[in-house]
Formats: sequence, C-alpha cells, structure tokens
Amino acid sequence: MSAHNRIAVMHGVNLDQLGRRPAAVYGDITFLQLEQRISAWAEELGLKVSFFQSNAESEFVEHLHNLDGLADGILMNPGAWTHYAWAIRDALEIADLPTVEVHLSDTSQREEWRHASVVRDLCIATVQGKGPDGYREALTLLRDHLESA
Ligand code: DQA
Repeated sequence: MSAHNRIAVMHGVNLDQLGRRPAAVYGDITFLQLEQRISAWAEELGLKVSFFQSNAESEFVEHLHNLDGLADGILMNPGAWTHYAWAIRDALEIADLPTVEVHLSDTSQREEWRHASVVRDLCIATVQGKGPDGYREALTLLRDHLESA
C-alpha cells in the first residue's frame, strides 16, 4: 500500500528562467535553488517529490495524463498558462488528484489579465505572493490533506 506521500511538482512556462526574470516581482532565486529548497522542505515533511518543468503546453498536459498511479497530489505553478490554458484545466480534471496552485507573486495585485485562474476551482488551495516560502506552505497543505484523507 502506498504511503500517500508522492507529490508531483509541476512548473509551467518560463519558470525555468527564474533568476533571469524581474527580481522585483520574482526575487533573485534561480530555478535550481528553488527546486533544491522544495526538495529539502519535502524531506522535512516526509513527502516524496518528483519535478517536472516544460515550456510546451502539450508536454505539461501529457505529464498530467501520465500521473495516474504515480502521484498522490500535485503542487502546480503553471506560470502564464494559469490565466488562459483551458486544456491544462481539463487535464488537471482528468488527473483528479488533490492539487495546490502556487504563484511566487501575488497575481491579484498585478495586471488585470493575471487575476483569472482557470485551474483555481479544481485546487484545494492557492498560495500566492509569498515567494519561494509559498511552496513550503503548499507542501504542508498537501501533507495535511493527504494525512486526513
Ligand atoms: C507566476 C505568475 C504568472 O502570472 C506569471 O505569468 C508567471 C509566474 C508566479 O509564480 O508568480 O510566469 O505564476
């Protein structure tokens, strides 16, 4: 029997470029450093994380299709896809796993077009505007959710 502690961490479009994006919005953490922090937090919380990043929407969708039996929860920052990528929303619905949506920045305080999220209502929670620490909060929420399931 699985321990229900497998989290698929999915970074969407342009997240691999962290460190080169506007520091005033995203901080100066690099993508590698972010994944290292997530790994350390996951270990503290007793979670097993697998990482995926793509700039191709089709690959992101196919990764969601292929999670069946391989993950117990999803931590997702879809980047700009958050705001309009309905195919990702449909794929998340198919994956049917507890999901937390994370954004480094507070999208509600930025341009109007960033206020919408096509995945939000499928997620158990959204954490945004907390920088890298938001990923820790998201992992904790997933851990608590999976423990109580
Ligand atoms: C982001 C916010 C999105 O609006 C933006 O397109 C990103 C990153 C964030 O983490 O703050 O690429 O998801």
